[in-house]
Amino acid sequence: MYRLKQLADDIYYVGVNDRQKALFENLWPLPYGVSYNSYLITDEKTVLVDTVDVCYSDIFFKKIADALGGRTLDYLIVNHMEPDHAGSIRLLRQQYPDVKIVGNAKTFGMLEGFHGIKEGLHEVKEGDILDTGRHKLVFYMAPMVHWPEVMVTYDSTDKVLFSADAFGTYGTLDGGVVDAEMNTDHYWEEMIRYYSNIVGKYGSPVQKALQKLSGLDIRMICSTHGPVWTEQIPRAIRMYDRLSRYDADKGVVIAYGSMYGNTEQMAEAIASSLAENGVKDIIIHNVSKTPSSYILKDVFKYKGVIIGAPTYCNQVFPEVDSLLSKIEMREVKNRYFGYFGSFSWAGAAVKRLTAFAEKMKWEVVAAPVEQKQGLKEDKYLECLTLGKAMADRLGRD
Ligand code: FEO
Repeated sequence: MYRLKQLADDIYYVGVNDRQKALFENLWPLPYGVSYNSYLITDEKTVLVDTVDVCYSDIFFKKIADALGGRTLDYLIVNHMEPDHAGSIRLLRQQYPDVKIVGNAKTFGMLEGFHGIKEGLHEVKEGDILDTGRHKLVFYMAPMVHWPEVMVTYDSTDKVLFSADAFGTYGTLDGGVVDAEMNTDHYWEEMIRYYSNIVGKYGSPVQKALQKLSGLDIRMICSTHGPVWTEQIPRAIRMYDRLSRYDADKGVVIAYGSMYGNTEQMAEAIASSLAENGVKDIIIHNVSKTPSSYILKDVFKYKGVIIGAPTYCNQVFPEVDSLLSKIEMREVKNRYFGYFGSFSWAGAAVKRLTAFAEKMKWEVVAAPVEQKQGLKEDKYLECLTLGKAMADRLGRD
């Protein structure tokens, strides 16, 4: 019944779209939804590469059955055990009891833990090959991109890389599956957001994986989320390479908390000074309104980061504290940093921001600005100085 997208002579796209979930990992907004990609190879042996979120197993199994056309399923390759991909494994085993599950030793530990499956396994190691007839599938370990068991599968026959989360992005596949047959404009910004939210902590493992795969002839990248990359492979690789090196554009993100607008005025003053001094890309986020998912995206995107907060219950404003801990968790490197804060009777926000700057080892471009109660002229001028210092620092690169 289903007209499945054929990616090669015997490779089919059998993934699904999720437009229902509000928050990926129950944390990150999905305005464009997300796809869970899975691929079926109908060679002399039949092979499924990854499954989908269990909520979509019904439609997923129908697609698989259509693509198999009455044949049985011989192998399931598990590149990644996170439940957005591995969630349907137990049900798949019930549907195809003889399917051999292909993974590495770490995969199988998780397979038992999540699904209680211990039998019918085919363990692979770095460089092992699974010969399915026409295809020779080679396995490369990619630990911490984004879990420790992650591996990727390279089809050396058709030059297809099944890359697990790598090169993935938020956003459903709205009709088209392959980049060449769709307008991909909105996926690029979503790719930065996806990377910063999900994979952001693991820059060094991503770099190792990119180096390991750099010698392969890759004509198609089949990630677990978002479009199948063909003609835009160089752009996707460049994006992951830059993000995993924490390389960033010449611009500034200002994130502030403010209860009654006093700290917000400092943010406005700093932004006006940045603009006056030639910075064109300036993004201001009110942390109480903008989900941290988007702020993290801009912290990964821009070289300059400025954060401000009021003091709250003798601590930093809690929404700013939450943002700081998310940035710390991702170990974002090499940013220029400015910060400011306020208090009504005893200051704590600037102290927390100072500790944050030290922990991150970011280059602080100017002395922090701390104001008591409302904005006065001397503090306003200090905000302008901070903005100029950031603009000057960016200008020297
Ligand atoms: Fe899309 Fe790490 O799972």
